[in-house]
Amino acid sequence: MLRNRFIKTATYEGFYQNSFPTEALTEHHARLAIGGIGMTTVSYGAVNNVGRTHSHQMVVSKESKPYLEKLTTAVKNEGAAVSIQLTHCGFFSSNTTIKGQRPLAPSRALNLYGLLQGLGFSKAMTLADLEETGNDFARAASISKEAGFDAVEIHMGHGYLLSQFLSPSTNKRKDNYGGILENRMRFPLDVVDKVRNAVGPDFPILCKINLSDGFKGGLEIDEAITVAKYLEEAGVNALVLSGGFTSKTPFFLMRGDIPVKDMIEVEKDKIQKWALRLFGRFVIKKYEFSENFFMPLAKQLRANIKIPLVYLGGVTSTEGVSKIMSGGFDLIAVGRALIHNPDFVLKVREENHASPCDHCNKCVVEMDREGIRCVLLDQ
Ligand SMILES: Cc1cc2nc3c(=O)[nH]c(=O)nc-3n(C[C@H](O)[C@H](O)[C@H](O)COP(=O)(O)O)c2cc1C
Repeated sequence: MLRNRFIKTATYEGFYQNSFPTEALTEHHARLAIGGIGMTTVSYGAVNNVGRTHSHQMVVSKESKPYLEKLTTAVKNEGAAVSIQLTHCGFFSSNTTIKGQRPLAPSRALNLYGLLQGLGFSKAMTLADLEETGNDFARAASISKEAGFDAVEIHMGHGYLLSQFLSPSTNKRKDNYGGILENRMRFPLDVVDKVRNAVGPDFPILCKINLSDGFKGGLEIDEAITVAKYLEEAGVNALVLSGGFTSKTPFFLMRGDIPVKDMIEVEKDKIQKWALRLFGRFVIKKYEFSENFFMPLAKQLRANIKIPLVYLGGVTSTEGVSKIMSGGFDLIAVGRALIHNPDFVLKVREENHASPCDHCNKCVVEMDREGIRCVLLDQ
């Protein structure tokens, strides 16, 4: 049972050294707990090495478990619950530790993101790869449970591996795992089954899904509703509603400004830096921010699904929160307003509050500097 309906959504923290969490990761989540959050979510727990976007990310493993135990204890001591996002990046990889291999994906795909690291093309997963990767999700889930997490969130959105299976634009398989949605759903459902078997019947499993991939030819709301129905039937406890595809529409999931200048500044690879300088402003599509920006799509899904739904996207004010509650959503997830102020939940519940977060999205760049933070706090 959560102490309130607010969840800190997964936002990649960047607090890692040699692929293991630093003290800052624990402090970050403990601070959110002090700020009154019902449940915080540790982002990007890669289920295996090949599932990491970058080589500095953490793999949920026996080796990282002691760090995670410390984190869950610190959060619980402050009265909040804590979940972990279990993820595999699929083809969207620039993980230099897998050089010589190819990133795994539903089908062979061009990976511009890893082109300069020699990871320009993915390998279509074999049945053995599917089995092994599903088992890795299950293993990561059971380690998470042992490490004291109260829930796991399986990442099925944002154009990562399971989202690549769901999306007609990236799943071109001709076997039982591609084609009609029932087939594209098969691997994500296998993962849910394996995770359920690993954690037992009473342990909460959330899935983060896309309401829309955000581009023509991608997954749209009609199919997203069917995806949600399958997950409901499979015994998933709650769905976190999002959208966007990191390799194609990265700012669809956030909306607001694109901090191109800062992105160029932090880019370490000289050619990528040059490409961003030349083309960044033209190729990265901008989406205007509006409060509760996923509400129209989320409402369509709400009308068709009975299990608890977590509203996510553009939560910034007390008034906006009331609208989400009256829209029939069970839980409310918040990203940037909590990056700006970890006390956002206390404020939004106690007064008529509006977050000063201006969606500059520079927090996205900070992940790759010293770790996630709000640059507005410097002013
Ligand atoms: C800095 C930053 C990092 C993010 N990292 C992740 C991530 O690791 N996993 C994920 O599912 N979503 C990630 N997101 C997307 C958020 O979970 C969320 O969908 C988005 O910020 C919209 O919510 P908001 O308007 O409350 O910020 C990230 C967003 C930001 C701003």
